[in-house]
Amino acid sequence: MTAASDDLDAILLQAREGFAKVSSRAEWEVFKATVMGPKGSLTAATKGLAEVPKADKPAFGKKLNEIKKAVEAACDEALKRVEAMAALKTLGNPIDPTLPVVEPLLGSRHPISQLTDRVVDIFQRVGFVVRQPLELETEWFCFDALNSPADHPSRDMQDTYFLSAKTEVATTSRRGALPQERLLLGTQTSTAQIRTMLREKPPLRIIAPGRCFRRDNADATHSANFHQIEGLMVAEKVSLKDFKACLDYFIRSLFGPDAQTRLRPSYFPFTEPSFELDFRTPDLGKLSNKWIELMGCGMVHPKVFENVGYNPEFVSGYAFGMGVERLAMIYYGLDDIRDCYQNDLRLLKQLS
Ligand code: DAH
Repeated sequence: MTAASDDLDAILLQAREGFAKVSSRAEWEVFKATVMGPKGSLTAATKGLAEVPKADKPAFGKKLNEIKKAVEAACDEALKRVEAMAALKTLGNPIDPTLPVVEPLLGSRHPISQLTDRVVDIFQRVGFVVRQPLELETEWFCFDALNSPADHPSRDMQDTYFLSAKTEVATTSRRGALPQERLLLGTQTSTAQIRTMLREKPPLRIIAPGRCFRRDNADATHSANFHQIEGLMVAEKVSLKDFKACLDYFIRSLFGPDAQTRLRPSYFPFTEPSFELDFRTPDLGKLSNKWIELMGCGMVHPKVFENVGYNPEFVSGYAFGMGVERLAMIYYGLDDIRDCYQNDLRLLKQLS
């Protein structure tokens, strides 16, 4: 072919090399102008078509078109490349929508909460209503009103976190309260009995799940912070038989119809008589058919009624309180109470 045709090849070569080198949009624009701008090499070649001898024109024109297309392709490709580089700088690596999704980690309620809900639900089905024990309490609610006066040995049963020296505490809506007393972290949910009875009139049936705090060293069976569920039923002529029937109903609802219960005499300052409720059931892993102690309970002590202004001659009732971690250990077959709060995801997944 002609010299002019060779020029076209040179233009394409130079354009390809040049576009391959640009690394930003600004560079791309400058280089593009040197090829395709008014004074660009390709523009000049196009203008040169007029001077090509007539006989060569068709061939030259055809070649010119091919070269133009190839230059434009190199130009477009370079633009795409520099824009992708700019996007990478601001957006990070491109997302591949065809990759499989990473399974999201779905949370669930903690086994202690699940078990609490279950117990509460069983009692709600027979008319118990939920009341919330307080976590920050006073000595009067936690001890005195529950018939454990200051010098009573039962106070030694619980080592208490006291918050402050004696504080002025509002004495409204309570009887027999001390004008000044210490604040403490509730050691038992039994305080909900007192708070409810002061506010509400019998008959009442409450179930009160809450947190408790005691100065215990953590080991396989102790924790300084744990959960309890308290129950209280007060009405006219509530008998021990009613009491036993309610506990049987609860145990069978939770552990199956073959579970048996027994009441063992015990002592609590706020119940008389007091008991420990034991149960056994044929289908409970290594605990099958063994008597297991589950909770303290008893008939409400007349002194407690007097402390809240109820007349023990007209009302009677029963109360019970269970440790949720203890129940969880039995229910889920755990050996160590620490499993209940260390939140090992492998265990939590198994239990939920
Ligand atoms: N409050 C007791 C404790 O923490 C448990 C308890 C025993 C609650 C007997 C009761 C009850 O309501 O009647 O050890």
